[in-house]
Amino acid sequence: MKPKVLVTREVFDEVLEYLSQYFDVTSNQSDIPMNPETLATKLSDKLGAIITLSDRIDEAFLARCPDLKAVCNIAVGYNNIDLEACTKAKVMATNTPGVLDDTTGDFTWALILATARRLTEAETYLRKGQWDGWKLKQFLGMDVHHATLGIFGLGRIGQVVARRAIGFEMKVIYHDVRRAAPEIEQACRASFVNKDELLGQADIVTIHVPYSSATHHLVGKEELKRMKPTSILINASRGGIVDDTALIEALRKGTIAGAGLDVFENEPKLNPGFLELKNVALAPHIASSSKATRLKMAMLAAQNLVAALTGEKPPNLLNPF
Ligand code: DGY
Repeated sequence: MKPKVLVTREVFDEVLEYLSQYFDVTSNQSDIPMNPETLATKLSDKLGAIITLSDRIDEAFLARCPDLKAVCNIAVGYNNIDLEACTKAKVMATNTPGVLDDTTGDFTWALILATARRLTEAETYLRKGQWDGWKLKQFLGMDVHHATLGIFGLGRIGQVVARRAIGFEMKVIYHDVRRAAPEIEQACRASFVNKDELLGQADIVTIHVPYSSATHHLVGKEELKRMKPTSILINASRGGIVDDTALIEALRKGTIAGAGLDVFENEPKLNPGFLELKNVALAPHIASSSKATRLKMAMLAAQNLVAALTGEKPPNLLNPF
């Protein structure tokens, strides 16, 4: 008999075919979100699960799934998983680093350009039939070329974003908890600055750090005040790193000029304040969503699960085993 596993959300057929070689697979192909009770019930007789960032795995949850040996996130971020609780319950946890860096970096640029050049605002105007002809001062935006890009977090994705900035002939500054190695700084043509310098100097501030208690509201009211009134803020990392209420207030008052956002506090609920603003470009957490990359992410999660349940060390194991 093959071990039973659960895939909590819809995945590609290739992924199911691969998993089925090893496991008796139940998959939520109708993609109906499951509340924690339903999920725990479905997992009560399973050895492993492919999960996504909306599945919260904590101590109380694990207590209801005594047979569980592995949870494999289809995401590089894993703030939905309590690693300590997993280790205590002898459950392996994995993520999907590396395969989404370029795609997420590309999308960060989509947000930068859309926000700086007011693309979503202009498209809305056009769709509403309001365009009555070319005007010299219509939708005046901000130039991205030769501007200063400030990157919070020069990890894998931050580096991709920095390297793309070379084409726009930008000055790149960054801040991180640790300064990057000289060869990384050189490849990215990025200079290390402190947090206040980054906020005060950048025309575009973009965030590429993981969510944790240390990065919760990394950008809030005070930080927004330190940014230039002409600057824009980009977030394609995690909701909660920016204080959304403070950001809405700053965008309303003109403390900063605009924001491009792919992630939000309390996703998928959106603070309604964002919808009243013209100076935001909004996306529903799709920065890694190219077909090729989402397939790679799901496949990597599946490979992690196969390794975990066949006595191998999963390639992306997050907790000690
Ligand atoms: C990740 O991999 O953490 C992304 O946010 C998922 O889209």
